[in-house]
Parts: sequence; C-alpha cells; structure tokens
Amino acid sequence: MSAFSGKSVVITGAAGGIGLCLAQWFGARGAHIVGLDRSVTAGAAMSALEDAEIAARFIRLDIGDAEAVEAAFAEIEAVDVLVNNAGYSNHHVLRLTTPASWAEEINGNLNGAFFCAHAAAARMREQGGGAIVNIASVNGQSALGDPAYSAAKAGMIAMTRTLAQELGQYGIRANCVMPGTVRTPLWRERAQKDPDVLRTLERWYPLGRIVEPEEVASVVGFLASDAASAVSGAVIPVDCGLSAGNIVMTRELTLEEL
Ligand SMILES: NC(=O)c1ccc[n+]([C@@H]2O[C@H](COP(=O)([O-])OP(=O)(O)OC[C@H]3O[C@@H](n4cnc5c(N)ncnc54)[C@H](O)[C@@H]3O)[C@@H](O)[C@H]2O)c1
Repeated sequence: MSAFSGKSVVITGAAGGIGLCLAQWFGARGAHIVGLDRSVTAGAAMSALEDAEIAARFIRLDIGDAEAVEAAFAEIEAVDVLVNNAGYSNHHVLRLTTPASWAEEINGNLNGAFFCAHAAAARMREQGGGAIVNIASVNGQSALGDPAYSAAKAGMIAMTRTLAQELGQYGIRANCVMPGTVRTPLWRERAQKDPDVLRTLERWYPLGRIVEPEEVASVVGFLASDAASAVSGAVIPVDCGLSAGNIVMTRELTLEEL
C-alpha cells in the first residue's frame, strides 16, 4: 500500500512550480489532492495531474480571503495533510515597498497561511489528527531581499512553532521547510534568458547548485508522513547548504581552495 493511500492532502498554490510538484509527489503515493490556487493556470495543473492518473480537484480562491478559505475547507471531505505552499513577492527592495504593498504581501503570504491552518486544524481535530507543513524560505531567516515577503516567511516560521505547541494535544503535527533557490519554471525561464544568472547564484550554495522541486517535495513528504511521527515544530532548510554559513566570505577569508 502506498504511504498516503486514501489520505486527503490539501496543497495551496498547487498550480505553481513547487505546488504542482508536491501534488505529483503525494498523488504518486496514493493521496487525493485538493489544490487551492487563485491562478487561471489551475486548469493546466489539473490536466497534468489527470494525465498522471492522480485523483485531484482544484478550488480557485485567494488564500488571503479568510471567508473564502473557511468556505472552501467546509466543502472538503477530509483534511489529513495541509501544505501551506502558496506564496509570492511583489517588491524585491524596501525602496519600492509601500504601506499598501507591504500589507497586501503579508496578507497573501502569512495571513493566508494562518487562515488555512486555522480551518484545517478544526477539521483535523474532528478527525483525531493530521499534519501541517509550511513552506517558508531562507528569506525568513536572513536578509536576502524581498522585505515584506521575508517578514511573512519569518512569521510563518514562528507560526509553525505555535501550531506545533498548541495542536500537539490533538495529534496534529506542524513543521516547516525553508527552501533556497528552487529550479521552478520561473527560474528556468530566467536562466534561459541569461545563463549567467544561475552560475552567479550557485557560487553561494555549498553543494554548488540550486534545489530541484522534487527535493522540496521529498522533505515535505517525509514531514507529513508517519516516518516523522515524533517530529513537530521543526524548521528544516532545504537549501543545498546555503544557511550553513557564508561560503563566499569563507572563500575570501581563508584565501584557500575549499
Ligand atoms: N522558487 C523558489 O526559488 C522558492 C524559494 C524559497 C521558497 N519558495 C516558496 O515556495 C512556494 C512556492 O513557490 P513557487 O516557486 O512554486 O512559486 P510559483 O509562483 O511557481 O507558484 C506559487 C503558486 O501559488 C499561487 N498563489 C500565490 N499566492 C496565492 C494566494 N494568495 N492565494 C492563492 N494562490 C496563491 C500562485 O497562483 C501560484 O500558482 C512559495 O511559498 C515560495 O515563497 C520558493
């Protein structure tokens, strides 16, 4: 029997690069997928899952709309796993960030993840347990640009720990992953336009490369699975070693081949 056979896995942002990969990963292991996404590309993602004979459906909504999230979770049959994956950044620097764009990004990234966790936790309590996995970012831990997005991701890490503490008594685990740069279609497009973009980035990663979407999915899958039954409140970098330290500075300080 597959690891997630008969389980209902709700994935926000399931029409995007990492989200679709997550849906394929869980779907290939027997899960029924419910994708929550505001994008019109949800149709194409649904077709890709159908082609792979994965049981899935999509609900089109903005997770930053609390009422829409409540209504969506009320019509989902069961919620065994929630992956809070939807996320985006509007402005890469503080100079271009306005009070309105800050509030909008915090709402879409952090408040939305809370709305989904809140609704999912109620369902999981009724069912006697479940697992929540939040997709934060290395931006939640270090300043790497995208100020509102980074603040939202830092909030997501803090929220994960609170969820783990308060929901543990109901058999609900909550964990978080922090990806570094992931080779999603967006990055592939950027690299096609400018091949140096990835070469420049890869210097910062001890493994000498960026992360593949499947490598995020396998860690999320582990955290959602019974193999991680004693893991709750963990924050795991999936970043090819980026957050181990500043390798570019280390090279300069040691003045030696590493
Ligand atoms: N790609 C990377 O390098 C990288 C690195 C670190 C963290 N992450 C995180 O991984 C997650 C997925 O990123 P991705 O690269 O696949 O991005 P993506 O843009 O390819 O996909 C994101 C998906 O989320 C949906 N979405 C965004 N905001 C939404 C909202 N408010 N309501 C409903 N749907 C919404 C979008 O429509 C899209 O389909 C994000 O949380 C992102 O912050 C990505």
